[in-house]
Amino acid sequence: MVHLEKVTYKNEEEIIGMEIIESQYPFVADNMESLADAYIAITSGEAYAYPFAIYDDDTPVGFLMLGYNEAALEGPEAPESLRNNYSLWRLMIDKRYQGKGFGREAVRLALEFIRTWPSGRSEACVTSYNPENEVAKKLYASFGFVENGDIVDDEIVAVLKL
Ligand SMILES: CC(C)(COP(=O)(O)OP(=O)(O)OC[C@H]1O[C@@H](n2cnc3c(N)ncnc32)[C@H](O)[C@@H]1OP(=O)(O)O)[C@@H](O)C(=O)NCCC(=O)NCCS
Repeated sequence: MVHLEKVTYKNEEEIIGMEIIESQYPFVADNMESLADAYIAITSGEAYAYPFAIYDDDTPVGFLMLGYNEAALEGPEAPESLRNNYSLWRLMIDKRYQGKGFGREAVRLALEFIRTWPSGRSEACVTSYNPENEVAKKLYASFGFVENGDIVDDEIVAVLKL
C-alpha cells in the first residue's frame, strides 16, 4: 500500500540517494536541496514545509514536500497565489519506480493531508512546473489544478481551490 512517512534518520539516506532520469533534472530540485529548503521554511517562522518519504509498503519510492505560505520565502516578487496557501512544493519518484502509479497516489495523499489543515484553513493549494514538464502538467490538471497565469522561478503556477 502506498503511504507517506515523515523523513527521519531511518529513511534519510534513501531519500537523499534517490535519482530521477537525466532529462528530468530541470524539473525538480534534488532531495538534499529540498530538505535544506524545508529547514529554511520552518526556521523562518513565516512559512512551513512538510517533507515526506513516499512508501510502497516498506520500500521508499519517492519524495514529496508540501509547503505553506511559500510567498514568505520568495520575497516581494512572489505571486499572491503563494501567500497563505498550501503548496505541492516538490514531488519526485525514483527512476526505478516511475510509471507505476506512485506519483498519482502521492498527489492524492498530499491533498488528503492538506485537507487536515495542518497550518490552518486556506483557500487553495498551488503548484508549479517547468513548461516542458507535460507529465506533471497533466497529472496536476487531472486533480483539478488550473493555470492562473502566474510564473514563479520560470515555472507555470497552477491552483486548486480547496
Ligand atoms: C512526475 C512524476 C512524479 C510522476 O510520477 P510517476 O509515478 O512516474 O507517475 P504515475 O505512474 O503515477 O503516472 C501519472 C500519470 O502520468 C503518466 N505518465 C507517467 N510517466 C509518463 C511518461 N514518462 N510519459 C508519459 N506519461 C507518463 C501516466 O500515464 C499517468 O497518467 P494516467 O494516470 O492519466 O494514466 C515522475 O515522473 C517524476 O518524478 N518526474 C521527475 C520529477 C518531476 O517532474 N516532478 C514534478 C515536478 S513539478
